[in-house]
Amino acid sequence: MDPRARRRRPLPALLALCALFGRLQVTFQITSPCTSERHYEHLGRCCNKCEPGKYLSSKCTATSESVCLPCGPDEYLDTWNEEDKCLLHKVCDTGKALVAVEPGNRTAPRRCACTAGYHWSEDCRCCRRNAECAPGFGARLPVQLNKDTVCEPCLAGYFSDASSSTEKCKPWTNCTILGETEALHGTDKSDVVCSSLPPTKPPNEPQIYLPSLIILLLFISVALVAAVIFGVYYRKKGKALTANLWHWVNEACGRLSGNKEM
Ligand SMILES: *[C@@H]1O[C@H](CO)[C@@H](O)[C@H](O)[C@H]1NC(C)=O
Ligand SMILES: *[C@@H]1O[C@H](CO)[C@@H](O)[C@H](O)[C@H]1NC(C)=O
Repeated sequence: MDPRARRRRPLPALLALCALFGRLQVTFQITSPCTSERHYEHLGRCCNKCEPGKYLSSKCTATSESVCLPCGPDEYLDTWNEEDKCLLHKVCDTGKALVAVEPGNRTAPRRCACTAGYHWSEDCRCCRRNAECAPGFGARLPVQLNKDTVCEPCLAGYFSDASSSTEKCKPWTNCTILGETEALHGTDKSDVVCSSLPPTKPPNEPQIYLPSLIILLLFISVALVAAVIFGVYYRKKGKALTANLWHWVNEACGRLSGNKEM
């Protein structure tokens, strides 16, 4: 347990760290100009690479810098480079359902994607037609360019009655808003069916007024029909019926009054 022993220890460690740091500093000084992504080493010296959009026409010499020239039309280079020629833009072949989504320029490549309704498939390395969602399923929107359809089952209150790769589930018709009543419930594959019959709850007082009117009309029509039938019957049988009827009425009335007197 000598307290001095503890104090001595940090010193060798510190020395080692200093030595390491010194070495690191030396390597940095030597390599730093040519480790940059914007330089290359040639004839023992560090020279500039060419910026994106240009290619290396001539390498540097002991006395001159690199000579960089711009890419031609329909060519590009998108990095700091020492290429001796530019890359050619790819062709977005409409016959293969491809379309350019980024035209490209001297510094960026042209980007192709499948046209609307198609998506890129790695299996065939071609554009495939997007899947259709069966009735009861809708496409998740927005439909993403170059992506296959994502089908989702229609939630309660929504329906899809056709196969489609672009249509989402549609909401059921609200019969109440149309002033109609629901005649048939909706499903995930079919819409609600509304009926144009008068609504069960008319807006104002007619709630009591209407049934009484109907009863009155019914009574009048029954009376009319009875009158017509009676008229026809009366003409056929002649006055004999009226006489009989009068006789019967008189007899009935006589009995009724007789009963009352007793
Ligand atoms: C080249 O296209 C890229 C990507 O489309 C864009 O970011 C860049 O600004 C364009 N450069 C020029 C010079 O138009
Ligand atoms: C119909 O619309 C009305 C008013 O917006 C609403 O109160 C009602 O809940 C809706 N009915 C259905 C079945 O969605």
